[in-house]
Amino acid sequence: MKKLLLLLVLLIAANSVSMSQPQSNNKAEITIAAETQNTGLIYKVSSADGRLYQSYLGSRLGSTDRLPQTGNDGHLAYATFGTDNLFEPAIRLTHTDGNPSLELKYISHKTEKPDANITITQILLKDPQYPVEVTLFIKTYFAQDVIEQWVEIIQKEEKPITIFNYASSMLHFDAKKYWLTQFHGDWAEEMKMAEGELTSGIKIIDSKLGSRAHKFQTPVFFLSINEKSNENNGEVIAGTLGWAGNFQFLFEIDEKGSLRVISGINPFASEYTIQPGKVFKTPSFIFTYSNQGKGLASRNMHRWAVNYGILDGNGPRMILLNNWETTFFNFDEPKLVGLLDDTKKMGLDVFLLDDGWFANKYPRNDDRAGLGDWQENKAKLPNGLGYLVREADKRGVKFGIWIEPEMVNPKSELYENHPDWILKLPNRPEHYDRNQLVLDLTNPEVQNFVYNVVDGMLTKSPGIAFIKWDCNRMMTNAYSVFLKDKQSHLYIDYVNSLYSVLDRLRQKYPKLPIMLCSGGGGRVDYGTLRYFSDFWASDNTDPLERVYMQWGYSYFFPAISVCNHITSWGKQSLKFKTDVAMMGKMGYDIQVNELTEKELKFSQNAIINYKRLSDVIWHGDLYRLVSPYEENRAVVMYVSSSKNKAVLFCYTLNSRYGESFNKVKLQGLDPAKTYKIQEINISNEGGRFISPESGKTYSGDYLMKVGLNAGSANPLTSTVYEISE
Ligand code: DGJ
Repeated sequence: MKKLLLLLVLLIAANSVSMSQPQSNNKAEITIAAETQNTGLIYKVSSADGRLYQSYLGSRLGSTDRLPQTGNDGHLAYATFGTDNLFEPAIRLTHTDGNPSLELKYISHKTEKPDANITITQILLKDPQYPVEVTLFIKTYFAQDVIEQWVEIIQKEEKPITIFNYASSMLHFDAKKYWLTQFHGDWAEEMKMAEGELTSGIKIIDSKLGSRAHKFQTPVFFLSINEKSNENNGEVIAGTLGWAGNFQFLFEIDEKGSLRVISGINPFASEYTIQPGKVFKTPSFIFTYSNQGKGLASRNMHRWAVNYGILDGNGPRMILLNNWETTFFNFDEPKLVGLLDDTKKMGLDVFLLDDGWFANKYPRNDDRAGLGDWQENKAKLPNGLGYLVREADKRGVKFGIWIEPEMVNPKSELYENHPDWILKLPNRPEHYDRNQLVLDLTNPEVQNFVYNVVDGMLTKSPGIAFIKWDCNRMMTNAYSVFLKDKQSHLYIDYVNSLYSVLDRLRQKYPKLPIMLCSGGGGRVDYGTLRYFSDFWASDNTDPLERVYMQWGYSYFFPAISVCNHITSWGKQSLKFKTDVAMMGKMGYDIQVNELTEKELKFSQNAIINYKRLSDVIWHGDLYRLVSPYEENRAVVMYVSSSKNKAVLFCYTLNSRYGESFNKVKLQGLDPAKTYKIQEINISNEGGRFISPESGKTYSGDYLMKVGLNAGSANPLTSTVYEISE
């Protein structure tokens, strides 16, 4: 009894301390709130030490008054190294005098509102001993519930200082458990999803590849807090770094179970010298918080992406026929004119001529020669690109072209004429990947060269309506003649130089659609996508593989940005291939002249359907209803913002003997509306018959509470429903 009483007294005492402190000290603490419609990220300046702390991240609070006093939990907004921080820092640098420590104290903050949706908060921090300033930027997108963070480091010391760590964002979490979902892969195996619980210590997801930097790891993650989240439940952060180069996400759980997440450029082999008076700006970390699972997090990201993340995200897209899979390097003018005819015949918008059209001294007839010599190959294209543009025009279709302007084959005139424009070690053998080397974009002459390749081509043939920009290798044995003694700047300067070339191009060609490609999905991020209309997700177009891959991309990237082509990969039916490609930006890379009359009709009809529904698919809300990671099928749906139209895609991947599938409850509809279900893309391949659901009418309420029979149990079959009010 005595013991119990003592415990009670202690408890009351403890409570009164933690309750009274914030009230008495809150007045002295400065609170800085970055808020969206549903999310709050709150910082406080400690009255005790003048440092900036993260006080809260989660669902938006009605009031921030009761948030506890900061300072004791170590949740520094941007932890430094060299003073008292015991864990991974967000920033580490060495001053001119060799002192390796940095202390950051709050100086001031300001907020601007460029428009009704966006707020930018800047928080200025400074070292009391040295003229080094760090500004934290927090840009909130109110309606989309997305927050973007980046940092500027300005140094006013007399000589250069060296920064070793320079994160874009540092976030803190206090939870029972943390679950990390990551996306990894390789060529033709992009976006494989893996989820695991974080344990004490550090887990890093990163890239060290320099160029084609996302070949093995895509710079995206989900972090579920307390419990594993699923599509509709759970607290989760979806985060991504907008950076075409080496990135790092670092997750560290300390001895108290607190988690810090540090996101930014990979500090690996990348110490950077900042000259006096200069500013170092990090790329953006972009994230959204959802307390209703991953589905809402994705929809937030998609809404943000179409408005702010990708080029012309609300604009139209052309559906294309590509020749890579059908001709590879083997084509000539008559064959290409035939493909223009096929583009027209199918009802497509643009023909995209892929690799192999250029170079004369070392013709580009395979991947061993010609890269870098961007003149039309006279044997293949005697009348130049202009002729193909005109032929396309005559047929009422557009013409597009493939380039890979950052690269060079050793067998090329470019290599012969400009050996110092190429990244390679002066005293070691060259190391090739796909028989090529990377150009040294840090050199302004090379930047001009790349700009002129594109600008020259568009000036000479102004009718070119589409570009595919490829990047087929990572950096190895890399050394820049231009950077001299600043070799550790390479990974950073390369990306910033790429962006400056793209900036220049976009000033002159603001809306020209350009597909971002990197030997498939080796470069997919929102730093780069602001210059690109869409991206080539993978060279693997086998539709079974694609169901998983597109599922993975759909977590972070909107359907309008993911290029899905119908090709000869995979032995599945043309219908299955078409239905899978349709859940993103559909295109073709097939021998149109080898299609049977029936297949041609089916495809022409599917293209008409796609054009009718593409607005819902590209700009509607995505609901992932059945995961291929959990069942032998995948079901996704898109719903228009007015909820008067939806498209439901059902893919049966496999089935066990006697297996039947449950009805699928739809989401996102208006319960009060009545919807008609119509199966589209109907093909009787394999004796398939029309779904019994087709033609029926249900209320939105019924469809969301009882559901719909979604597709057959036969392996590798698919059903697409158009759902109309
Ligand atoms: C890699 C791309 O992913 C392919 O689609 C194709 O464009 C080839 N490069 C061409 O070399």
